[in-house]
Amino acid sequence: MKQSDFDKYEDSYVETVERSIQFSGLKHDFFQQAKQKMLRQVIYKHFRGNEKLSLLDVGCGVGSLHPYIKELVHSIVGVDISHQSIKRAKLNNSDNRYFSYDGERLPFEANKFNIVMAVCVMHHVHPDKWSFFLSEMSRVTQENGLVVVIEHNPLNPLTKFAVSRCPFDVDATLLSARRVSKL
Ligand SMILES: C[S@@+](CC[C@H](N)C(=O)[O-])C[C@H]1O[C@@H](n2cnc3c(N)ncnc32)[C@H](O)[C@@H]1O
Repeated sequence: MKQSDFDKYEDSYVETVERSIQFSGLKHDFFQQAKQKMLRQVIYKHFRGNEKLSLLDVGCGVGSLHPYIKELVHSIVGVDISHQSIKRAKLNNSDNRYFSYDGERLPFEANKFNIVMAVCVMHHVHPDKWSFFLSEMSRVTQENGLVVVIEHNPLNPLTKFAVSRCPFDVDATLLSARRVSKL
C-alpha cells in the first residue's frame, strides 16, 4: 500500500463502502452499529465499568466509527497513513485527536492506552508486516489493556464478494480470526 491510496476517498469513503455492500440491502450504518455493539460487550467484559478509558484507533480513516463509540470511552486518538483521511477525521470529530504517521512505529510512548484497536486495517498491511504491526499495537497498550482487531471474515462468501467489489480492497489479503490470534 502506498501512503496516499486512501487519500482520494476522503470525501467518498462511506459511499464507496456502501456501493460494495449494496447487494446486501444493508447500509454502512448497520455495520457500524454492529461493531459498536461488539466493542461495547468486549470493553465491558474486560474493564467492568472503568469510566476513564483511553482508546487509540490505528488506521482510523476518516473516523467514521468514532461517533458510534464515543460514549464507550473517555478519549479517542486516531492515527492513519492517509493525511487526507486524517484531515477529514478531524473535521468530523472535533473532540478527538488525530495524527498521520508512516505506518511503521506508532508515534506514542509505550503503555499509553487502555485500548488499541485496528478496524479493517490489517488486510491492507503487507503480511510480512503483520507481526510488527501487532507488536506496535501491543507496545503502546497498557498492562492489562486490550488490543482489538476487527477484520473481514475470509470464511464468509458474502464478505469475500463485498471485498471483490470494493475498489480500495484490490490489495487486500484477508486474514482469519485464528491467524490474528496466533500472531
Ligand atoms: C478500510 S479503511 C478502514 C478505516 C477505519 N478503520 C474504519 O473502519 O472506518 C483502512 C484504513 O487503513 C489505513 N492503513 C493502511 N495501512 C495502514 C498502516 N500500516 N497503518 C495505519 N493505517 C493504515 C488506510 O489508510 C485506511 O484509512
